[in-house]
Amino acid sequence: MSSVVTGAVAPASSSEEGETLRIRGGRPLTGRVEVKGAKNLATKAMVAVLLGNSTSILRDVPDISDVGVVRSLLEVHGVHVTDGENPGELVFDPSGAVSANFEQIDAYAGASRIPILFCGPLLHLLGEALIPDLGGCRIGDRPINFHMDALRAFGAVVDKTYEGIRITAPDGLHGAQIELPYPSVGATEQVLLTAVRARGVTELRNAAIEPEIMDLIAVLQKMGAIISYEPNRVILIEGVDELRGYDHRCIFDRNEAASWAAAALATDGDIFVGGARQQEMLTFLNVFRKVGGEFDVHEDGIRFFRGGELRPVVVETDVHPGFMTDWQQPLVVALTQANGVSTVHETVYENRLGFTRALVQMGADIVVHSNGIADPARRVPRRALEQAAVITGPTPLRGADVVVPDLRGGYSYLIAALAAEGESVVRNVGILRRGYEKLFAKLDTLGADFDVIG
Ligand code: EPU
Repeated sequence: MSSVVTGAVAPASSSEEGETLRIRGGRPLTGRVEVKGAKNLATKAMVAVLLGNSTSILRDVPDISDVGVVRSLLEVHGVHVTDGENPGELVFDPSGAVSANFEQIDAYAGASRIPILFCGPLLHLLGEALIPDLGGCRIGDRPINFHMDALRAFGAVVDKTYEGIRITAPDGLHGAQIELPYPSVGATEQVLLTAVRARGVTELRNAAIEPEIMDLIAVLQKMGAIISYEPNRVILIEGVDELRGYDHRCIFDRNEAASWAAAALATDGDIFVGGARQQEMLTFLNVFRKVGGEFDVHEDGIRFFRGGELRPVVVETDVHPGFMTDWQQPLVVALTQANGVSTVHETVYENRLGFTRALVQMGADIVVHSNGIADPARRVPRRALEQAAVITGPTPLRGADVVVPDLRGGYSYLIAALAAEGESVVRNVGILRRGYEKLFAKLDTLGADFDVIG
C-alpha cells in the first residue's frame, strides 16, 4: 500500500470522500482486526450529554466521521469536548451550552442523520431546537414523520422554515402515549432522549429494541433516568427533573464485525474480529453458518472463516432481533460465490439493493425485484415497500471501475474487488469513513493489495 490514511475524528471533507483505491483482488483476507464502539450508539450517547448537568465520559468511541459531525455540532452548541486520557475516550462538559443559529448548524446539513436527535435535549435545555437538512446514506426516502409526530405528542411546536426546521416548546414538554407505526431505531431514540426529562410518564409502544438502543437506555439510566423495558416492544419512561453526566463504554460495533465476517467468507479468508461478541450477533451467526461459514467464539472476539463450499440461503432483513438491513450488502458478495440460488428480501428500506448493479458489472448474476417477490421459503411478506435480490452463484468476479454509493453498499464493493480476479478501481471511498474506523490500516493488516491513488 502506498499510503495509510487512518482518518481523524472530523467531518469527512469532500476531498476525503473523493478518495480512490486501486485494488488487486484474488487474495484471501487473513489476520486480526479490532472493532470499537458502535457508530449507532456512540453518536446517540454523545447527544445525551446535553441532558446532563455535569461532565460525561464516553469510552471506545470509534474514530469515524459521523462522530466528528456530532462532536462539531455539540461544540457549536457550546459543549466543551476534549480527548480523554486513553485513545477512544471523549470528555464532554455541557455547562456552557448555548443556542446555535441556522448559519452555524448549516455547515452540517447533509452530513448525517444524527442532528434530528438533538431536538429533545435542546428543547429541555434551551427551549428551542434548529435542525439542518439531514444527510446519511441515500437508501430510500428516509422521512422524519415519526420523529415530528412524537415531538408534537410531547407538546413541541414544529415550524418548517426555508432554512430548516425550528422546534419550540412554549409550555415545556410533558409525558406522552406514543405508538410508532414501525419500530424505527431513530424515532425510538428520539422518544427516549425527550421523555427522560419530560413532565410525567411516557409510554412508547412498538419501540425498536436493537442492542444499541438498550445501550443508550443504560447510558440514560446512569444519568439518573427511570426507564423500564416491558414485554412486546413497550418502553415506559418516568420523567425526572435533572440528569447528571455519565461514564460509559460503548457497545461494540456489530455491523462492522458482520462486515469483516462477510469479507472472510467472500475472499475465502480467515479473520479474527477482536471485540466482537456472540450475544448481539446470534441472528447473523446463524445465517453465516447456513451459508457455509465457520466461527470460533473467544473471550476477546470471534474468528470467522469458510467451512467448505458456500451454500445458498434465503434471508430477509428486519428489525432486531431479525437480520439487520446493514448486514445484507457484504453478505450478498459472499452469496455470489455460493453454489445455487439465494434470495435477499430487503424489508427495512425501500431502496437498499441499488448497490448490486456494480456487482453485476463485476460478473455477479443478481436480479433485483423492485416490488419484492413471493417466496414460499419465507414466513410472510413484511412490508409494502420491500424489494428482493435473487443471486445465482457461483460466478467468478472480475475487477471493475466502481463508485461507492453509500456506507454498507460501498463496503461490499471493497470486498467484491478484493475477491475479484484482476484490478479494480473503487472511487468515493471517503464515505466509508462515516462508519469504518481505520479502514485502510485494517485492510493493510489483513493483507489486502491496494494503493490509494486519489
Ligand atoms: N421511517 C419512517 N419515518 C420516520 C423514521 C423512519 O417512515 O420518521 C422508516 C424509514 O424510512 C425506514 C424504517 O422506518 O423504512 C426504519 O428506519 P429507522 O428509523 O429504524 O432507521 P434510522 O434510525 O434512520 C438507523 C441506523 C441505520 C440502520 C437503521 C435500521 C443510525 C444513525 N442509523 O437508521 O444505519 O440501517 O437504523 O437498523 O443509527 C448504517 O449504519 O449504515 C445505517 C444506515
